[in-house]
Order: sequence, then C-alpha cells, then structure tokens
Amino acid sequence: MIKPFHIETKNLILRDVRPSDVYDMFRLDSDPIVHKYLGNKPRTTIEESEKDINYIIKQYNTNGIGRWAAIEKSSGDFIGWSGLKYNNDVTYNNTTNFYDVGYRFIPKYWGKGYATESSIAALDYGFKILNLNLINGIAEIENIASNKVLQKIGLQFVNTFKIKDVDAHWYELKKEDYEQRMS
Ligand SMILES: CC(C)(COP(=O)(O)OP(=O)(O)OC[C@H]1O[C@@H](n2cnc3c(N)ncnc32)[C@H](O)[C@@H]1OP(=O)(O)O)[C@@H](O)C(=O)NCCC(=O)NCCS
Repeated sequence: MIKPFHIETKNLILRDVRPSDVYDMFRLDSDPIVHKYLGNKPRTTIEESEKDINYIIKQYNTNGIGRWAAIEKSSGDFIGWSGLKYNNDVTYNNTTNFYDVGYRFIPKYWGKGYATESSIAALDYGFKILNLNLINGIAEIENIASNKVLQKIGLQFVNTFKIKDVDAHWYELKKEDYEQRMS
C-alpha cells in the first residue's frame, strides 16, 4: 500500500485494515448474528480471518481501495469495517467491475448511526477522491438495517436479484445525483 488510509468522522476513525486486527476481525466474523444476512457462514478459525485481512490488503495494493477498519473514537475500540470495495472478482446482478459501499460491525456497536456515518465518508471519498461515476449497494431484502442505511445515504433502489437462493436489493448512486444532493 502506498499510503495508509486515515479518515476521521464525528465518532469514528476509518483506517486501513492491518494484520494486527486479526483477533478483532475474528470476533466480528465468528458471530452468527453478524452473518445472518451474509450467507450464514461465520468464520470458525483465526486462519480464516487472517485470509480475510490478506484479501483486503491485496485490494488496497491492486485496486487502490478496500474496506476500512472502523475505530470508535470515544473508546478506541475496533468496531468492524466499512467503506468501498472494487468488485472485480465476483458477479452480482449480472454485474462485475463495480464499486460498492458496505459495512459490518460487532453487534455491541449497532444502532448508533455508525454505518450511516462511515458510509457517508465512503461516498465522499469515492466521488471526490477516486472520482467515481457510480457507486452501488447490495442488501438482502430481509436485512432491514442495511436497506435503511443505503436509502438514508441516498442510494436509489434499482432492482431485486438473487444471491444464490436469497432475494436481494441492488442500489446505485450516480455522481451527478450525489453532487445535486450535496449542493
Ligand atoms: C447493517 C449494519 C452495518 C447497520 O449498522 P448500524 O451502525 O446499526 O446502522 P445505523 O445505525 O447507521 O442505521 C441503521 C438504521 O436501521 C434501522 N433499523 C435497524 N434494525 C431495524 C429493524 N429491525 N427494523 C426497522 N429499522 C431498523 C435503525 O433504526 C437505523 O435507522 P434510523 O437511523 O432511521 O433510526 C449492522 O446491523 C451490521 O453490522 N449487521 C451485520 C452485517 C451486515 O448485515 N452488513 C450488511 C450487509 S448488506
């Protein structure tokens, strides 16, 4: 990675994910509640979390972007991750090579507005720094909190599609619509 990420919002520090985050990442991803709308396959070993971290670091190096670790300023706690990902190795809704905004937090930190707060920073970064023209969002239909966050930050619902057998919503935000919202 050329330069470590460091962005501050009102309540959070958003920074690059590091190998030393492995136990926090495992705490996040071994929780079945967290994975309820993510295919129901929580991690069972530390090695899986190591692989997850290496995958994110690889994205920083090859794509210039990847999800950020989110640190709660008031406690210094690692609460999960949030931010943009360039999806060039997966296909959703018949689409590859797209940027999406995503988030995943330890339940103790849900309901404090942190997904909304961090995702607004991610959209700013995507449109202003990366100069993207389009950012997408994906949420299983039954994941009410995630659908709500995507709508709150201004993404528009486009269509319903299947992730394996599960119905999901596909959202998008175009740069021109983002700029209009901001003006
Ligand atoms: C999705 C997730 C990141 C949301 O994080 P969060 O920090 O709690 O989100 P926010 O507080 O910014 O916003 C959540 C919104 O959903 C609402 N909400 C949450 N659960 C709800 C429910 N069951 N019914 C109605 N509204 C609900 C909240 O009230 C809030 O809306 P409001 O601000 O208008 O009151 C968190 O639940 C999570 O990590 N889930 C597990 C991983 C996951 O599913 N990630 C998304 C994959 S698409």
